[in-house]
Amino acid sequence: MTRIEENEQIFLVGFMGAGKTTVGKALSVKLHRPFVDLDTEITNYLDSPVTDIFREKGEPFFRDTETEVLKNVLSENGPSVIATGGGIVLRDSNWELMNSSGKVIYLKADIDKIWHRIKKDTSRPLLNVNDAFNEAKKIFGHRKKLYEKADFTVSTDHLNVEQTVKKIQNLLFL
Ligand code: S3P
Repeated sequence: MTRIEENEQIFLVGFMGAGKTTVGKALSVKLHRPFVDLDTEITNYLDSPVTDIFREKGEPFFRDTETEVLKNVLSENGPSVIATGGGIVLRDSNWELMNSSGKVIYLKADIDKIWHRIKKDTSRPLLNVNDAFNEAKKIFGHRKKLYEKADFTVSTDHLNVEQTVKKIQNLLFL
């Protein structure tokens, strides 16, 4: 049984560091679909890194741009694998865009595991604060219910990239 149509998009959502980009790239190879990374598209669109956009223009401006770029990506690309930014789930309009054009997969990972992956990375403006671990836990707590609105959830804690990709393929196509 197939749970996705050929013309539908595949969106990966999840917290920062959940592996959306890495898994998305590997999945796109397996499915012979183009890969699109939304943060990269935003960076190209404004010709500015995400950290600079947050610092110079603030989060609301970033969120407006994120929605605009999501819209553009959907009108410019056929069926792809799209890795979103961790905050895509915050806006209803993003859900409307994703739900009306494809299937949404939540890459679910334990916050302690995620923290180990992202703690040395300074490219995430929301976590460039004192006591970033507590901040990450707080943000994750606020968003948990939103991530769970996805069509499918894949727990990645005990899976490597290859196994995660296989699991998604099975979910969508078996
Ligand atoms: C954000 C996650 C980032 C990026 C921006 C905001 C968030 O993407 O979009 O820093 O609000 O969770 P990743 O999830 O790819 O780190």
